[in-house]
Amino acid sequence: RLHAYCQVDDLPAMQHCNLMNLPENYQLKYYLYHALSWPQLSYVAEDHKGRIVGYVLAKMEEDPSDTPHGHITSLSVMRNYRRLGIAEKLMRQSQQAMADCFGAKYLSLHVRKSNRAALSLYRDTLGFTVVDIEAKYYADGEDAYAMRCDLTPLK
Ligand code: ACO
Repeated sequence: RLHAYCQVDDLPAMQHCNLMNLPENYQLKYYLYHALSWPQLSYVAEDHKGRIVGYVLAKMEEDPSDTPHGHITSLSVMRNYRRLGIAEKLMRQSQQAMADCFGAKYLSLHVRKSNRAALSLYRDTLGFTVVDIEAKYYADGEDAYAMRCDLTPLK
């Protein structure tokens, strides 16, 4: 089941899911900042008992001189719930809301060069392209692909 939007009381469970699935972690106040600033853009997936098994944490970039665009801060799905289409659904909901609510023209994100599952999701399923390689972007020294997806067809 997918929530309409993530609620403030979902945030600790989102943070837990993030800690289980990714080395890039954030303080609870950073989740709260997303939920309060752009409540339309972050979503959670729940199992039948209401436990959060996946989330997308998303924002709008705030530089007013730039074309309006969204950014995925973090996406993950618990191991036992992967390959069911949950991440794709979370991403598509957030992308549509970025275009509808904030007039976003494109969406950006970073992904580890070695992250084959996420790369395949972004490039093959969602139509992102690699626009740059950011050397040593991650704390452990791994490079990131900077990726973008055109959102203008969603308008
Ligand atoms: N290998 C190859 N392709 C994959 C894989 C994989 N392991 N996982 C997903 N894909 C591709 C496939 O094309 C898939 O379609 P298909 O199943 O019909 O072949 C498509 O993506 C959609 O997959 P979903 O089922 O929607 O993806 P899932 O719900 O399993 O979540 C995710 C994918 C989020 C990458 C998951 O593997 C995960 O949580 N990984 C660990 C955390 C992570 O890497 N998050 C992304 C970091 S980048 C960031 O946060 C901005």
